[in-house]
Amino acid sequence: MKVISSISRLRREVGLLKRKGMRVGFVPTMGALHEGHLSLIRKARKDNDVVVVSIFVNPTQFGPGEDFSRYPRNFKRDRALCKAEGVDIIFYPSTEEMYPQPYRTFVEVEQLDEYLCGRSRPGHFRGVCSVVAKLFNIVSPDIAYFGQKDIQQAIIIKQMIKDLNFPVKMKIMPIVREKDGLAMSSRNTYLSEEERKEATVLYRSLCLAKDMIRKGERRPGRIIKKMQELIENTSGRIDYIEMVDMDSLSPIKKLKEQDRVIIALAVWFGKARLIDNIIVTVR
Ligand code: PAF
Repeated sequence: MKVISSISRLRREVGLLKRKGMRVGFVPTMGALHEGHLSLIRKARKDNDVVVVSIFVNPTQFGPGEDFSRYPRNFKRDRALCKAEGVDIIFYPSTEEMYPQPYRTFVEVEQLDEYLCGRSRPGHFRGVCSVVAKLFNIVSPDIAYFGQKDIQQAIIIKQMIKDLNFPVKMKIMPIVREKDGLAMSSRNTYLSEEERKEATVLYRSLCLAKDMIRKGERRPGRIIKKMQELIENTSGRIDYIEMVDMDSLSPIKKLKEQDRVIIALAVWFGKARLIDNIIVTVR
């Protein structure tokens, strides 16, 4: 396994492999790898001849006062996990390598960032799209792998791939959960023991919503209220709970048969802002 920090070297190495006809799978990450990331890496390993994982905590996707400086970083551990999964190349650039000064170009996908996390994290998806566009240009993958956990990110990047004609196929993989339902996240490490226990309410509230829909409830307001009540029994502070259309990400007013909707939430437990979601087909 090679660890490469320079863009020109990464391009050279991947170029050589692609000229030999090899298919390149790419998993972009910010490190602090967990089973969720590993599931993407395993899928990439299965589908491709070469697997590239990037590890870069991207400063442009963090707002002022967010957790950029304390975001968990443990390259040694990440490197060992990648090696064990048979990764071929880790791309591990510095901030200067990715954003040489003066840096002035950003990519923005309109409208899809107006809801969910986009509302409470202005500029976040502009930072995500910019770095992912750069990574696609640097790595030139055939297939890129993203997790459903960051569903808005995945939908926005899908749109960016289409709009900017990136020759990249995208695969969105299911959320990996702990045994008690908590979605795997690098930010779970911020939780105290008590908060960790309470945070299971997120998945329980999503299951409650799904169950209400299954039993015939069609009013998103009613469903969201019940979810709120459940979460408000804990120390969790709700940022948002929304039920949105799969394509436009705009809020649903009334559920109809065959609708495919995303029920998504962001809730603070102590210093950790956790997100989670489920996709439900109404029947
Ligand atoms: O999902 C993430 O870890 C990041 O947003 C990504 C896609 C690696 C871009 O920095």
